[in-house]
Amino acid sequence: MPFNQKNRSLLSLVHHTERDLHYLLDLARDLKRAKYSGLNRPTLTGKNIALIFEKTSTRTRCAFQVAAHDEGAHVTYIDPSSSQIGHKESMKDTARVLGRMYDAIEYRGASQHTVEELAEFAGVPVFNGLTDEFHPTQMLADVLTMAEHCPKPLPEIAFAFVGDGRNNVANSLLLVAAKLGMDVRIGAPADLWPKEDHVLMCEDFAAASGARITITDNPFKAVSGVDFVYTDVWVSMGEPVAAWSERIDQLLPYQVNKELMAAAANPRVKFMHCLPAFHNCETEVGAQIAAQYPHLRNGIEVTEEIFESPVNISFEQAENRMHTIKAVLVAALG
Ligand code: CP
Ligand code: NVA
Repeated sequence: MPFNQKNRSLLSLVHHTERDLHYLLDLARDLKRAKYSGLNRPTLTGKNIALIFEKTSTRTRCAFQVAAHDEGAHVTYIDPSSSQIGHKESMKDTARVLGRMYDAIEYRGASQHTVEELAEFAGVPVFNGLTDEFHPTQMLADVLTMAEHCPKPLPEIAFAFVGDGRNNVANSLLLVAAKLGMDVRIGAPADLWPKEDHVLMCEDFAAASGARITITDNPFKAVSGVDFVYTDVWVSMGEPVAAWSERIDQLLPYQVNKELMAAAANPRVKFMHCLPAFHNCETEVGAQIAAQYPHLRNGIEVTEEIFESPVNISFEQAENRMHTIKAVLVAALG
């Protein structure tokens, strides 16, 4: 694989090398500093980027829009209901239309196959803004945030993901850590472990990078000695509401609370979350869950106490979504 990020799609990170990832992370850090110091110069003037969102979004959408705007590019936002995609026009045909008008396309939706088909037929770079399987742009932000909050080189950093260990964020964390030689642990009940073929692929990458992979049903073992404890919602977008009751039973022992954070036995340990998070009952879903499960009124996957404490760096992650997505755009189109 040549070291050239021009016109490069970002679909899963499976085909990105350690060097590719470091290049994007370094570029993101440079672009962040340039923005902070007022030295940023637009490099994407005249470019047009389509943003297809078949699922809702705050961070990913805003990050693409602000990053593009900062670099002088224009975007078209295509919301979950107002285009012909799916009900009247296939993704293959949509790809061949948009590829003639746009310089790049972002896609968020359910199926990984769909984003790959879009990339195959569009003829322009395609960026995966989240599928059921992967969330690659989130990973760049997360690793940049870890690097900013821990003085160790990446291969010495240890982190644990606790919760639904086979969702898009968990799959992607395992993958990116395996590529970058990190110490990654998944703490989840066995029914929610990542799929075997994904683990085997990550183990192959780990054999080459020196990454250490632990998958355990013991949340305390998972977090022991880590620098970061990471969690995500227990029920992801696209899953039925009915999944909540079973998921709560399965995942309550994996809630990020004071006891679990203390089990890291690291005074510098930080809490991470891709967001949005259910950390109290001030959202519609949080209130519905709290009405049925009163013991979760102060947080579902993470307690209000941890979320509102200085260990929470999830808003740093959210900001870094923009700087890292900007790096992806500049690398591919600049
Ligand atoms: N973390 C993340 O992807 O957030 P959004 O769903 O708001 O884009
Ligand atoms: N696993 C979550 C991530 C949201 C950013 C979901 O897919 O809903």
